[in-house]
Amino acid sequence: MECVVQGIIETQHVEALEILLQGLCGVHRKSLKIHELCLKSGPNLGTSPSEVRLLCDLEQSEPAWRVRHVGGAMRGAGAEQISVNVRTMVESKVSNNVLRLFYALGYKLDHEQLRVGFSFNFQRGAQMTVTVSSVNKMLRLHATDEAVPITPGIQLVEVTAPATSENYSKVAAAMSSFCEYLAPLLHLSKPGVSTGVVPTAAAAAASLMSDGGGTTL
Ligand SMILES: *[C@@H]1O[C@H](CO)[C@@H](O)[C@H](O)[C@H]1NC(C)=O
Repeated sequence: MECVVQGIIETQHVEALEILLQGLCGVHRKSLKIHELCLKSGPNLGTSPSEVRLLCDLEQSEPAWRVRHVGGAMRGAGAEQISVNVRTMVESKVSNNVLRLFYALGYKLDHEQLRVGFSFNFQRGAQMTVTVSSVNKMLRLHATDEAVPITPGIQLVEVTAPATSENYSKVAAAMSSFCEYLAPLLHLSKPGVSTGVVPTAAAAAASLMSDGGGTTL
């Protein structure tokens, strides 16, 4: 399982967010350029429709494909009380001809994207990954060098952490307290709950930029 929250930030404040994250995490950012194919199963494959994503980070020295299946968010009273989504997630390395395999299984390409940005991976009460990226669409099939932003001027921020059914509340608590530090710049919430940009972002970004991230939090 994994815990996840998402938010958006204006591209003009991304540099300030990076300075803040660098200070909080104490690690360097990792660039990413992820080619993502979203596949949906055809009607002849079992009863319930299925969706998988094929991902390949083109920034890696030897780009390799992975397949990811994300399950529905956990429900119930316990899930309502926490401010992050808890969901099942299965990911596996796959070979480069995986697309042909999924087509043969009856899956169809729903859409493809290129996510360009960076991530921080660090331990802070839980093993968290913060990803900041612009989401681009391809003008031609698989043409990753001709990608254009879907939402110009806006980037997606996602925080994820691995969890189990035993420790998800601990992971969620660690994630919530981490998100508080980012609150002046962006609001993070369960995926699907759109919250928009925060009004304090410009002022918070200006102050982060002026002291070069030297602030001790
Ligand atoms: C929760 O459990 C998983 C799997 O054992 C582990 O990887 C993770 O570090 C644990 N997280 C916390 C905060 O204890």
